[in-house]
Amino acid sequence: MSSDATKGLEGIVAAKTYLSDVRGDVGELIYRGYDINQLAGNIGYEETVYLLHYGKLPNQSELSALKTKLVSYRQLPQGVIDLIQSLPKDTVPMNALRTGISALGCFDSSSEDNSPESLQEKALKIIAQIPIVTAYFHLYRQGRPLVESRPDLNEAANFLYLINGGTEAEKDSVDTLDMCYVLHADHGMNASTFASRVTVATLSDIYSAVTSAIGTLKGPLHGGANEAALNMLREIGDVKNIPKFIEKAKDKNDPFKLMGFGHRVYKNYDPRAKVMQKTCHEVLAEIGKKDDKILQVALELEKIALKDDYFIEKKLYPNIDFYSGITLNAMGFPSTMFTPLFAVARTAGWIAHWKEMYLDPKNRIGRPRQLSVSYTHLRAHETEADL
Ligand code: ACO
Repeated sequence: MSSDATKGLEGIVAAKTYLSDVRGDVGELIYRGYDINQLAGNIGYEETVYLLHYGKLPNQSELSALKTKLVSYRQLPQGVIDLIQSLPKDTVPMNALRTGISALGCFDSSSEDNSPESLQEKALKIIAQIPIVTAYFHLYRQGRPLVESRPDLNEAANFLYLINGGTEAEKDSVDTLDMCYVLHADHGMNASTFASRVTVATLSDIYSAVTSAIGTLKGPLHGGANEAALNMLREIGDVKNIPKFIEKAKDKNDPFKLMGFGHRVYKNYDPRAKVMQKTCHEVLAEIGKKDDKILQVALELEKIALKDDYFIEKKLYPNIDFYSGITLNAMGFPSTMFTPLFAVARTAGWIAHWKEMYLDPKNRIGRPRQLSVSYTHLRAHETEADL
């Protein structure tokens, strides 16, 4: 545990949830009783949404009803489309997403209706609309026309169809993106889920909760690490440079960290990183780039780090972001799209947590304490920096 107990809330139990269980010591992730290794590659994103939200895997008719609902909600209000198209084209995509989701709340006349029926509808509406906001901003910033969604396509296929400007993606790409969505859908009390739960506990609305979560996911210590990890691997550039970067990561006086490495809970290999590493190999082989230089750097970096005493003692392993960036890059996504894609998938979890809390009659506002240090009590030799 960190030496400064006021930093990072390490070890604090902030909620009880039935949704997912991150078993950090053994490197397992469980969604509603199912190991992620059983789910990834075997069920799709829509089934995962159903599992997280209703506590069981859907039968055919339940799945088909969920898909029909999601498809029916894909159309964005024109005001939100206009707003997206008025943003500066160099807006950071996560900022555009945050603004777009907040705007969706302004255009939803039911945003403050907290009846169970309305909560249920809004939950699915946001899951259906967040990928459209992401794709539309992407098209707009590239100066390309917006495309209508295709009702016959699942969530992953429709997203690829939109960002490809109306061309259907190959099945392999759809399956890979679908699996990425499944892997990212929920992850216990991670920082963005925690942020959204704090918002929900005040009985604020769902759009505010998701907006809080998006702002939190954006940071490079959390969801932003996928983009940062790929940038780092590119900066390393060649396996011969790895030792220099390992030394930098170990140097206490250097702020550099191995991005995509380490985790607050996993003190073992992140199970999602294992799946992602395998997928990464498959995707690169499919596009004839199995000897991709960046992948070679990643594999060698992982190998060296896992044999190094610093990483062994601190139990630092690759996390999901270490290989997701290379995979998404190989699929043709620009790196600025990696974290928004994470947000699209994690919305399933954020909203499942929101429902779980809203339906809990024993909900209480989240209000921790702080250690107050009065200026008048500063001792002569202390400065604010000592606090
Ligand atoms: N590279 C080098 N050293 C590291 C790394 C790393 N990636 N991660 C942790 N350490 C070191 C710390 O410097 C610290 O050393 P010390 O005890 O000598 O001070 C020790 O390991 C413990 O690290 P903390 O930062 O205290 O661990 P914490 O649980 O607070 O942070 C985090 C976890 C944010 C993931 C951290 O490991 C990190 O910054 N990793 C890189 C960013 C990253 O990949 N984030 C994605 C996380 S997964 C996700 O959100 C999807």
